[in-house]
Amino acid sequence: MEREKILVLDFGSQYTQLIARRVRESRVYSEILPFNASMEKIRDFNPRGIILSGSPSSVFDEGAPIPDRGIFDLDVPILGICYGMQLMAHLLGGEVGKAARREYGRAEIIIDDDRDLLWGVTDRSTVWMSHGDRIDKCPPGFHPVAHTENSPIAAMADHERRMYALQFHPEVVHTEDGKRILQNFVLDICGCSPAWQMSSFIKWATEDIRNTVGSGRVICALSGGVDSSVVALLVHRAIGERLTCIFVDNGLLRKGEYRKVRDTFQRHFHIQLVTVDARERFLSLLSGVTDPEKKRKIIGNEFIKVFEEEAAKIEDAEFLAQGTLYPDVIESVSFKGPSATIKSHHNVGGLPDVMNLRLIEPLRELFKDEVRELGEELGLPEEICWRHPFPGPGLAIRCLGEITPERLELLREADAIVLEEIKKAGLYRQIWQAFAVLLPVRSVGVMGDERTYEYTIAVRAVTSLDGMTADWAKIPDETLARISNRIINEVRGINRVVYDISSKPPSTIEWE
Ligand code: XMP
Repeated sequence: MEREKILVLDFGSQYTQLIARRVRESRVYSEILPFNASMEKIRDFNPRGIILSGSPSSVFDEGAPIPDRGIFDLDVPILGICYGMQLMAHLLGGEVGKAARREYGRAEIIIDDDRDLLWGVTDRSTVWMSHGDRIDKCPPGFHPVAHTENSPIAAMADHERRMYALQFHPEVVHTEDGKRILQNFVLDICGCSPAWQMSSFIKWATEDIRNTVGSGRVICALSGGVDSSVVALLVHRAIGERLTCIFVDNGLLRKGEYRKVRDTFQRHFHIQLVTVDARERFLSLLSGVTDPEKKRKIIGNEFIKVFEEEAAKIEDAEFLAQGTLYPDVIESVSFKGPSATIKSHHNVGGLPDVMNLRLIEPLRELFKDEVRELGEELGLPEEICWRHPFPGPGLAIRCLGEITPERLELLREADAIVLEEIKKAGLYRQIWQAFAVLLPVRSVGVMGDERTYEYTIAVRAVTSLDGMTADWAKIPDETLARISNRIINEVRGINRVVYDISSKPPSTIEWE
């Protein structure tokens, strides 16, 4: 049976991904295509409904993003959001004008017609506005179904043609009944059944892996992070011992990480695991290197070498499984963040295609939160399932300046204390990443009667939704005090702890 799908056309809004995620939370599968996708592609996709996203543009801008008008003749329900609404008015014969006052932020919605899209939405509940243009006149066939103080047409509908539009953003959490509105659209108006769930995904994905792989062998680079762990479990579920995982200890892992990953996958899940102790190799190449980008290049290249050597020993390896996620594959106009050009991110995933292995990417349709849900369904321990992101170059980019085994050890111990205390305080899940950074400066202190001259640890903890922007976490004083006391008392060689209170931008999350 073909999956029922909702298509989100992306006009460049920062919220486009959120729309797709919210639709999936209604248990209906959705994907994003760029606004200028061809009609052929859209027909091929065979959507049950189409959502037009917002945009930073105005329909009056030269070069404003305009979709193929053929979408209005497909006879599938359409929902325009913000710019998507103005676009519908503009293309279907309504009138769009400049709002006397730009409306940005919260507004109260007053429902005028709650027969389908706005069914169950509370009158005067909060909606989130962000627009400069507004609809002055509905296109023929449409009528207003809700208004706010500043927008006489905050929502409009053409029930006959099943076309709807909202001036506000139902996908953001600030719109109180936004979830219900999207659910009304995809379930009631588009008639989709809420069938997208992890148990059916597992069934469908394992079948797909079996069909692709046949009797071949798959290898997978395990990093200890959630994505590669879930890939490993899923592929293992599909083909059992025809999966071999390779886990490289590059000497830059966190305290206890190597043993934890080995125990989890080898002992608990009985996955064939090749562990490689490459600490020496990495550390000798990194010796004397202080430039962050050089560190990244060395680590990335060496990882590929080690992995290739190990893979070559697995004679019948035919496939490489990787944890690519949906945000990496969306062909989109909006999500190209600046970080790629600021730091070169060498992920464990960045293996070259010269390896002569065929790639399988069983998570390429999933968002991060869905990967975690899948991990839980597959029995991945909570500790791995909810692990904070950890960069491929590991502690190397948190050990500022020169990397030596001694300095790494200081960092590793301090970092373990940071994590332990964050977990003890029940803050781990609220925080995007928390870690210690070893600074290359020494400062004077006094311990007992003695003068000390030792290194400084910076504690970094941030909250974020996607790592693109981040704020420093407001950790309670008592927790910071415990972290500081413990590090200074327990880690010989550290006599000062500072807390990083910079947000991203203009700072970055990592210090290098
Ligand atoms: P920044 O420091 O750019 O980090 O604000 C954003 C996110 O990316 C992670 N990061 C990396 N991940 N290889 C990786 O796999 C890298 O070289 C790298 N540099 C930064 C960082 O931990 C944060 O989650």
